[in-house]
Parts: sequence; structure tokens; C-alpha cells
Amino acid sequence: MTTRRLVLTRSAALVGAASAGLLLPQIVRAQSNKVRVGFMLPYTGTFAQLGVAIENGFRMALDEQGGKLGGREVEFFKVDDESAPPKGIENATRLVERDKVDVLVGTVHSGVQMGIHRVARESGVLNIIPNAGVHVATRAQCAPNVFRASFTNSQPTLALGKPMVDRGHKKAVWITWAYAAGDEAYEGFEKSYLEAGGQIIKKLSLPFPNVEFQALLTEIASLRPDAVACFFAGGGAAKFLRDYAAAGLNKNIQLYGSGFLTEGVLDAAGDAANGVLTTMHYSDSLDTPRNKQFRLEYAKTFKMQPDVYAVQGYDSGQLLIKGANAVKGDLANKQALYAAMQGATIDSPRGKWTMSKANNPIQDMYLREVANRQNKVIGIAAKAVADPATGCRMA
Ligand code: PHB
Repeated sequence: MTTRRLVLTRSAALVGAASAGLLLPQIVRAQSNKVRVGFMLPYTGTFAQLGVAIENGFRMALDEQGGKLGGREVEFFKVDDESAPPKGIENATRLVERDKVDVLVGTVHSGVQMGIHRVARESGVLNIIPNAGVHVATRAQCAPNVFRASFTNSQPTLALGKPMVDRGHKKAVWITWAYAAGDEAYEGFEKSYLEAGGQIIKKLSLPFPNVEFQALLTEIASLRPDAVACFFAGGGAAKFLRDYAAAGLNKNIQLYGSGFLTEGVLDAAGDAANGVLTTMHYSDSLDTPRNKQFRLEYAKTFKMQPDVYAVQGYDSGQLLIKGANAVKGDLANKQALYAAMQGATIDSPRGKWTMSKANNPIQDMYLREVANRQNKVIGIAAKAVADPATGCRMA
């Protein structure tokens, strides 16, 4: 009690001194310091290339601003989270306490995100999620300092059921990795597929990040569904596509997926990915000047093609830029910073999107088909999809 009162009294004195101009030298020095940005991303393992694409996209957004945030130089700190949930809290704590980052950009894996989330909520540090779709981060545990520039795990699959039934595929098998992202992608799929009149005849799974698909593919062949729907991503997705085709299943059982299945893997999967149908908030072939300019610039800078992860990293950068510019680089002005980020409209290569009250993008979902090593857009599968944000009450 005494300690708390002491702290409050001291901070009240500091505010008084600051408004009287007594602390101006310190404040000016703090402002001219670099903004400390921490990347907590997978740089090894099945999601390694996702982490790289996110970092590339983020840096590209900042480079377009002369490398500055609200007029301040930027210093980067990096941690490889290895997509390993047990190390999540420790790695996030390292960035917050040792490196004293102003903003933590991370991560990809939903399980690791829960570690970051705990640290973000306890420390109050700004967290921008450039991928991980774990529901609770923008539902029951939503927080004013946590912003997602990507999706919730059920957003893409909420758009998947109808196009499947529209194509006459009414009996499906679902297959995924057994962890939060797979389970929550299933939630969206189940809802949309059952509502459209489809029937799910079997749910199959294997532990993350296993890629021993053979026994499960044999089981699918014997179940003879009209279609298979799935959630896989990264290196594991490329292997699943190749194994599905090698087993001959692509000839008579249409494969569908949450769009991550065909992101960043089209060269690795080769012809095995042809004809796969997915729903996602981005498509390579979106015919807009914004997307074309982004793709050209990214390919020129990084000597590789961008994917949805690059777009999400880029948008994470854009979101932070909007906030930092609104407070002229004073990221300590949290109320104004968060208000600007919350109210932002992001002019993304995916199309313009806004933040929901729970700090999650409201965005269109595209139906895409793989052809010639590209995700070709077929149409908009669902407009302005918002996550239900169940249980979110901002403090
Ligand atoms: C997740 O774990 O939330 C996740 C990982 C990879 C993806 C999408 C979601 O491509």
C-alpha cells in the first residue's frame, strides 16, 4: 500500500515538473532516441519462410517512409521463436525487458502468440500481430495495446463452405494439424459448410508440425468424400500438396483449404498444387494498381515473389506508421497512438481494410484457384468479414 502510494505521489510530481518545463531536456532526449522495434518470428522450422516474408514486408513499409516512424529513426531487435510455444513467454520477455522494445511485432504460430499475449497484457507493451490467428487475442482476452493486422483463424474458412457446396461437393473430410490454428479454422469451416448444406464425414489430424501424411491419405481414399478441406501452412503445406497428388487423390477428390495452404509454397509444390481451391484475404492476381505496385517493388527488393505473409508484414508496418505519425513519434502517448491505430484505414495490397472494435481486420475474402504457380482470384467469396469478437471488452 505504502509503496503504491509513494509511486503515485512521485509520478504526480513528475507530471507537475514536466508541465512546468523542468523535465524538457530529458523528454527531448527520449524523443530523439530511436524507436525500438522487436521482431519475434519463426526463422527456423516449418514456418521459417513465413517469418522472413513478414519481416521483409514490414521493412518495406518503413523504407517507403525513409526508414522512419513519426520522424524518428528505428532500431530493430530479433528473436527466432522457432514456432515453439513453451519458449513463447521467455522470448517475448527478453524483447520487452532486455531490449526494451517500444513495439513487439509477432508472431506466426497461435500457441507462441499466447505467450506474447500474456507478456503484452502484463507489461502493456504495444503488440502488432502480423499473422497468428488465435481467436482469444481479439475475443475474450482482447486488449487496447494488442492489434492484429492479419485475420482470425476462422475468418478465411467462414467463406469456404458455400463455394464447396455450390460446386456440388457436399460430403467432405477435414484434415489439419491438431493445435489452435487448425481447431479454429475448423470452427469456421464447420459453420459455413453445415449452413450451406454440406456434411462432414470425418475429422482427421496429426500433431504440429508432423508431415507423415501417408496413413491419413490412405484413410481419405477409402472414405471416398466429394472433397477434402484443410488447414496447413509453410513447409508442411508444400509437403501435403505433394503427397496428396502423389497418392493420386487430386484426380478425383477436389482439395480445398484455408488459403495458407497455397501461400509461399507454389514453387515447392509445383504441379501438385494445380486446381486447388482456397479462401483467403489476399490473392496474387488482384488486379489493382496498389497490388501490382506492391508486388513489383517487393520482387525487386527481395528477389522473390510476395505472398499473404509479406502483405501482412507490410500492413503491420503501415499500421504502426499511421499511429506513429499521428503522435509525431511520441509512442509514449499511448491513448492517441492507439486511437489512431484503431481508427486507421489500411490501404493494403489485399484491398482497403479497417479495424474492428476488438482490433482485428474487417476484410473481404477471395476465392482463389492455383494455376501456373499463382493464386488466381475467381471472385469475392465473402464481403467485409468481421470476427464475432465474442467476449471482448476493452479495458
Ligand atoms: C497460426 O498458428 O495461427 C497460423 C500459422 C500459420 C498460418 C496461419 C495461422 O499460415
